[in-house]
Amino acid sequence: MLTLYGTLDPHTHLRDLDWAHKATFESETRAALAGGYTAVFDMPNTPPETINRAALQTKLQQIANSAVCDYGVYFGASQTDNTAEYAGLSGVCGLKIFNNATTGTLLIERPQDRAKHYAAWEHGRVIAVHAEGETILDLLQHIRRTRRQTHFLHISTAEEIRFLKEAKAEGLPITVGVCPHHLYLTEDDLPRLGALGLMKPTLKTRADQAALWGALQSGLVDVIESDHAPHTLAEKHNPEGRAVYGVPGLETTLPLLLLAVHERRLTLEQVNALVAENPRRIFGVSSRADTYTRIDSAAKWEITNAGLQSACGWTPFAGMQVYGHVREVWIRGTLAYDGEHVKVKRGFGVNIFR
Ligand code: DOR
Ligand code: ZN
Repeated sequence: MLTLYGTLDPHTHLRDLDWAHKATFESETRAALAGGYTAVFDMPNTPPETINRAALQTKLQQIANSAVCDYGVYFGASQTDNTAEYAGLSGVCGLKIFNNATTGTLLIERPQDRAKHYAAWEHGRVIAVHAEGETILDLLQHIRRTRRQTHFLHISTAEEIRFLKEAKAEGLPITVGVCPHHLYLTEDDLPRLGALGLMKPTLKTRADQAALWGALQSGLVDVIESDHAPHTLAEKHNPEGRAVYGVPGLETTLPLLLLAVHERRLTLEQVNALVAENPRRIFGVSSRADTYTRIDSAAKWEITNAGLQSACGWTPFAGMQVYGHVREVWIRGTLAYDGEHVKVKRGFGVNIFR
């Protein structure tokens, strides 16, 4: 039996609010428990977007009433310049800046706007960025100037790994996150997956995939994050053929990493660092002896759509043979999940940054 203390996924889109038809704080924190997580951080791109104090209060209230695991929420950078909101902001785990287009309307594209958000965020908490390709080079300029601690989310290419390896060698205060879908799927899977293989950043080449595994093994990658982004099947297969980006991941991340351990591509120590120790250190979350996950790491099983807690009811990993049954999740001394059932009531989860 494997015990992991304080598992934390710092990159999820739990939905609810105006997108409760996709998923809710309750359904997706249940998915987090089933996936072995004690805490998740929610992104700000669900409407009403978390870009002002009123929207933040609405989200904090709703999630406090609903969550069954602990949580944090990001504030979002807005193109309508919401930097006046940053001073004295409390209750958030960090700032999210979308620098490339994705689900939702948040997007900061001009370098001078990025400079404004970097200058204004004097909070001390992490800035988490969606930045792809050469956009990373622009972000590094802002980090060089302001020295703000920045987490690069869902890195997906060999080139991006090169940029970030050099930036770390330069001593910039940065960390790197990678998602399981970029480790286990490539563009070669798109014909098979169709819309279920669409997310941002997109699936890449086998060479990119190999670079990500290399960066994991060398220790350049700090965090494995799911980018859990549930969409309904109807939206994914919408008749207008409009691309809807995002895949769920909370219930498949740990099993996919334990598959990597089984295949000797990662060690258990590395997995523990990637899903617990490092995300906690980066975001300043302390470890507790009474908050842990027990996993039967030898148990082999097949991922199925029917087996999921997530409201979306599908996964791009269906059919894969993986390892690791989550047997117990304990949070603050309470058994929150017993391997089959969620044992706590909605509202049990607390804001780690309250
Ligand atoms: O694929 C994605 N989906 N990438 C993102 O950055 C956002 C997410 C979502 O909210 O659906
Ligand atoms: Zn995301």
